[in-house]
Amino acid sequence: MKLEQLDTPALFVDLDVLESNLEAMQQRINKLGVKLRPHTKAHKIPALAQMQIDRGASGICVAKLGEAEVMAAGRIKDILITTPIAGETKYQKLIDLKLRHPKITLIQVIDSKEHVLAIGNMAKNAGVTIPLIIEVESGQQRCGLDADEGLIALIKLINSTAGVSYEGIQAYSGHLQHTKGYEQRNKVARAAVKDVFEFIENELTEDDLRPSIISGGGTGTFEAYQGLSYTEIQAGSYIFMDNAYQKIGDEHQNDINQQFGIALKVLTSVISHPKPNRAVVDAGTKCLSIDMGVAEVESHPDIMYQSGGDEHGILHLPSTHCPELKLGQKLIMHPSHCDTTLHNFNQLVGVRNGEVVTTWQIEGRGRSD
Ligand SMILES: Cc1ncc(COP(=O)(O)O)c(C=O)c1O
Repeated sequence: MKLEQLDTPALFVDLDVLESNLEAMQQRINKLGVKLRPHTKAHKIPALAQMQIDRGASGICVAKLGEAEVMAAGRIKDILITTPIAGETKYQKLIDLKLRHPKITLIQVIDSKEHVLAIGNMAKNAGVTIPLIIEVESGQQRCGLDADEGLIALIKLINSTAGVSYEGIQAYSGHLQHTKGYEQRNKVARAAVKDVFEFIENELTEDDLRPSIISGGGTGTFEAYQGLSYTEIQAGSYIFMDNAYQKIGDEHQNDINQQFGIALKVLTSVISHPKPNRAVVDAGTKCLSIDMGVAEVESHPDIMYQSGGDEHGILHLPSTHCPELKLGQKLIMHPSHCDTTLHNFNQLVGVRNGEVVTTWQIEGRGRSD
């Protein structure tokens, strides 16, 4: 089947670009001498996680326990859950997941004493051990405790609590990923974790305090930390890219980041053309998320997309050189944010040279639990 024959709206990925993004990131990470543990919240599909592992990734990250369940069922063997969980129901789900898949490495990020005591107690009673990574404050002021004596006390608590083990530190500065300009982005990203690494290097020197894993970094900042002791990078969006990430710039001073290409796209149809300067497509916010700006129309930089609500996308057409649009005409959109766009679809279609060659169920879609 040809791409244009797909019913719309359809989410698809250009497989040549996706594969080249996977190779490019793995090579860049290899050059940095660290491991790649890609964040799969971008794609939520075990088969794509396996493609990342086949190219050298050491394991994966997921944002939520629900996503971890999907990845474990999809035979992914090394999973880091990067968001703290809380409450008995969640702790039980974590332990049940470990019991269902005793051989996988399942690491949970935490940032408090309560997490350690509750997870430790339930894990011990179930006869399993859950490895823990402590999130530290890295400028985002989201989760994470400060790198000070409190961090040492928490590591000591983990070390003395049955049912949990201390694996390391997560230092992730999500708020800086889209800082414009490569040099500037690297500068602010390093500055955001400077105190953390000083503390790790000066205070976490004893064997039982030293982190085995130091995890962090994203598609915007993965090259910022050379010389710091990160052991792995958690970048995720690079697999697809999106128009927000495209605009962050690269090391060659290009305003448009050329490190990775736009692989993720949405095929949409013109459903109405009520005025010469306005057409409407069948992709509203239930398809194209707007949390990071709006989608762009491929090959038509003059056309401005605006959300027209849940099901409608309004196209503002330029008065001059107006492309002729017909009802039913298909257009390709570049989403502004890959993670939240994936969340809107059940299936991702794989396309090569304009032909549909595969379809994946987006198994982690809707798994915000
Ligand atoms: C903790 C954590 N690590 C890594 C990532 C991946 O970042 P990106 O998709 O920007 O590469 C995210 C994304 O939100 C994240 O929350």
